[in-house]
Amino acid sequence: MKRRYHVLRAHSLGSAEREFATDVLVGLTERPKRISSRWFYDAHGSELFAEICDQEAYYLTRVEHEILSAQAEDFVSAFRGTPFNLVDLGAGDGRKTVLLLDAAQRLGLDCRYVPIDVSESALDDLIERMQARYPDLEIEGVVSEYLHGIEWLVEQAPRRASLVAFLGSNVGNFDRAGAARFLRRLWNALLADDGLLIGFDLKKDPDVLLAAYNDPRGLTRRFNLNLLTRINRELGGHFDLQRFAHFGTYNVFSGAMESYLLSLCYQEVRIDALERSFTFKPFEPLHTEYSFKYLDEDVLRMAQETGFAVQARHWDDEHRFCDALWRVVKAS
Ligand code: AVI
Repeated sequence: MKRRYHVLRAHSLGSAEREFATDVLVGLTERPKRISSRWFYDAHGSELFAEICDQEAYYLTRVEHEILSAQAEDFVSAFRGTPFNLVDLGAGDGRKTVLLLDAAQRLGLDCRYVPIDVSESALDDLIERMQARYPDLEIEGVVSEYLHGIEWLVEQAPRRASLVAFLGSNVGNFDRAGAARFLRRLWNALLADDGLLIGFDLKKDPDVLLAAYNDPRGLTRRFNLNLLTRINRELGGHFDLQRFAHFGTYNVFSGAMESYLLSLCYQEVRIDALERSFTFKPFEPLHTEYSFKYLDEDVLRMAQETGFAVQARHWDDEHRFCDALWRVVKAS
């Protein structure tokens, strides 16, 4: 089958391995130690994440699916009469995207599907699945970092409107300042009146959150520990996974679920590619992930502060999650 995507090699993709090495070096030298959750998603990490999404306790995927099932037409109908790109950031297996594409087809909209992903193989799989499901859909995949991919897309002639889908509470993996920075850069890359469909996980009973990030099958634990497996494989690390424990906790003050790997003993771990070892004290934490939770008012403030107008908001029945449609406002 003919592949339809562009590989943007000019950017940092070729140096992804070097970037990983640098992040690990910088993060393990900081106090407290930290490594960004963006490195969770190698092939195995992505598989584990898909399994987490199927867990009863991990309500996020289920309730967002519920919202999109009911509201997809409302979200895409803003593009009635306008040819547009449905830009998918972090589509995963595309199970939520299909709700938007189905709605666009039902409404007879002129929609081109543009998934953007740094992983060429993940994009390949996704495009193949989407081509099989929608034989007539125009698909243009972009192998790139999100923002660089959007900048490239918007520069293509003829110019087309875009609806960017940033679902699944992916924005929650940035801290508050990082989220605002990302959204401002996104605003800058987009055209006036483009749309951003963005999913926010809302603040709720901490017990519900703790259960979601400490699932009974231990998938989240494996997902977290897989970061060490990746360092071992890609950077010649010598982590012994038995000597680390997953710790997922909720910080009520900052509003974030936080994931850590706790060293269970004193240990020195060598990473060959970095030509050095790192010391871990007993119960010293390595921070690996934030999953920020929002209040409705935070969502409104965030839109306003980053240059967007809120066009629509929808919640699930239990008010656990909010999908919001924002529009890019630019002075003419
Ligand atoms: C991808 N991201 C929005 C998930 C989250 O909820 O922060 C990743 C995840 N981490 C642990 N479980 C799921």
